[in-house]
Amino acid sequence: MTTTHQDPHSFARPQQVRVTHLDWTANVDFASRTIKATAAWTLASHNGSAPLVLDTRGLHIHKVWLNDSEGTTYKLADFHPLMGQALVIDVNADTAKVCIEYTTSPEAEALQWLTPQQTFGKEHPFLFTQSQAILARSWIPCQDSPGVRFTYDAEVTVPTGLLALMSASNPQRIDENGCYCFEMKQPIVSYLLALAVGDIAFQKISGRTGVYAEPGMIDQAVWEFADLEKMVSATETLYGPYPWHRYDVIVLPPSFPFGGMENPRLTFATPTIIAGDRSLTSLIAHELAHSWSGNLVTNATWNDFWLNEGFTVYVETRIMEKLYGKQYAEMLASLNMQDLLATIAELEADGKSADTKLKLKLDGRNPDEGVTDIAYNKGYFFLRTFEEDYGRDKFDKFLQAYFDAHQFRSINTETFVQFISGFYQANYGIQLPTQLFNEWIFTEGLPARHPKPVSSNFADVEEVLMRWRISGTLTRADAADWSTHEWLHFIRNLPESLTPQQLREIDTVGGFSHTGNAEIIAAWALVAIANKYTDFYPRIESFLVHTGRRKFLMSLYQQMTKTREG
Ligand code: BES
Ligand code: ZN
Repeated sequence: MTTTHQDPHSFARPQQVRVTHLDWTANVDFASRTIKATAAWTLASHNGSAPLVLDTRGLHIHKVWLNDSEGTTYKLADFHPLMGQALVIDVNADTAKVCIEYTTSPEAEALQWLTPQQTFGKEHPFLFTQSQAILARSWIPCQDSPGVRFTYDAEVTVPTGLLALMSASNPQRIDENGCYCFEMKQPIVSYLLALAVGDIAFQKISGRTGVYAEPGMIDQAVWEFADLEKMVSATETLYGPYPWHRYDVIVLPPSFPFGGMENPRLTFATPTIIAGDRSLTSLIAHELAHSWSGNLVTNATWNDFWLNEGFTVYVETRIMEKLYGKQYAEMLASLNMQDLLATIAELEADGKSADTKLKLKLDGRNPDEGVTDIAYNKGYFFLRTFEEDYGRDKFDKFLQAYFDAHQFRSINTETFVQFISGFYQANYGIQLPTQLFNEWIFTEGLPARHPKPVSSNFADVEEVLMRWRISGTLTRADAADWSTHEWLHFIRNLPESLTPQQLREIDTVGGFSHTGNAEIIAAWALVAIANKYTDFYPRIESFLVHTGRRKFLMSLYQQMTKTREG
């Protein structure tokens, strides 16, 4: 559970003094947009010779004491633009607990305070957190490194009429006093600390799965995620028992900046996956997969981020294959390969080729810079290489053993290399070639020999595209049975320049002007912007105004800046 190397994104010195448990008592105040709280940290045995160092960012520290009431000296160090401020607290050999009373800043980066107007119901305010990668420190003073694990208990008071949820055991209905207790008995890391407060309803899917959302959204959300229990069971047959007891999903208001966030026991999700046809649920499979890859076995530093995301895309794809078949999974994998190739080209063009290695060097940079398709999709295709080269059976046994051997621990890339090499040698007598690791992990770009997903559905789409290039017309019959994924493949592979008639015809056949499917809207918007297809502009404008998901905003604004009008 201890990492021996210094995490470049944390001031904490867990090798000297390390936390093991958090008792958090908090009061959420919407009027001042602050949380006033006490964080009481239990320490692992230590000899008192070194201080406890916590990460903070914008916190107002009121009082610090040891054990029950023993005073102590502490210092809030200078502000560092990337890392915030170290809180250095003097402890002695008898210090079992360190308590900090503090208030968050209204600008705390991890906290998004929404006005009623920004919610679906328009009547109550809403608060949600986003701690990954290094923002937990803006709402809880902590050893904000993915190499440090702890359990937690929390007691949170919110305005009456609102529900509070955390990445822990959760209530299912509103408490009339606005007082909620939480328990997380399994050790997690700080970026998985999470809180959501609002007018939130719950509906169960199965005995251990369910959906939270604003009351006006809950029915749609429950319908969309009807296969939630099937996803959990499918993952269990692949990789062993679900380790976190319950699995629930909360659908947040549209300003949530990500598609999903794998907060333990409670995935946070964007409403942009509520497509009305269940076509975007691979995102839920992805966040569920993190219950094993990421939350159970965690990247020790952000330089090893691919261990979280690459493994997760691999598991996600296997879940989707188990539920919906090989054809479906290969469409997802093909789209992933397109994204990966585009990202590599882009990073190279931007002079960031070094970021195309799986093992990153993010020291002195924001770990968000490592959130690219490299970690996700180069990571995925690397793992798929073992499957293709030596057989799925062997790789599945490896994965089970990998999760088992490192559960509730944080590991780095080098530990992974050692473990898989040892496993294949010991169990199968296979010597994995060093070159395989070198060319994927420590070399830029994509190795010449790499897995190539094959989708017959996409081959059909490509045929329609070819006929369309010759005939110039697209009919409803051409796309009669296309799902979201076939449409995405079609839109992405259109020629760069299209005539107004072509644009109008494709728009009509695809029904893009009426769709609520965010992936389709975003993909078609890129084409519309590039071709000055003004018919679609009102739809783009309303999409941009009503969506906070970074992936869509980034690609659309980037595309706009490429045009004069943009
Ligand atoms: N853990 C990530 C989100 C994340 C990564 C937040 C790094 C902050 C820093 C989550 O599991 C994720 O990958 N979300 C994706 C969806 C997925 C299907 C690719 C997203 O939000 O788009
Ligand atoms: Zn992820």
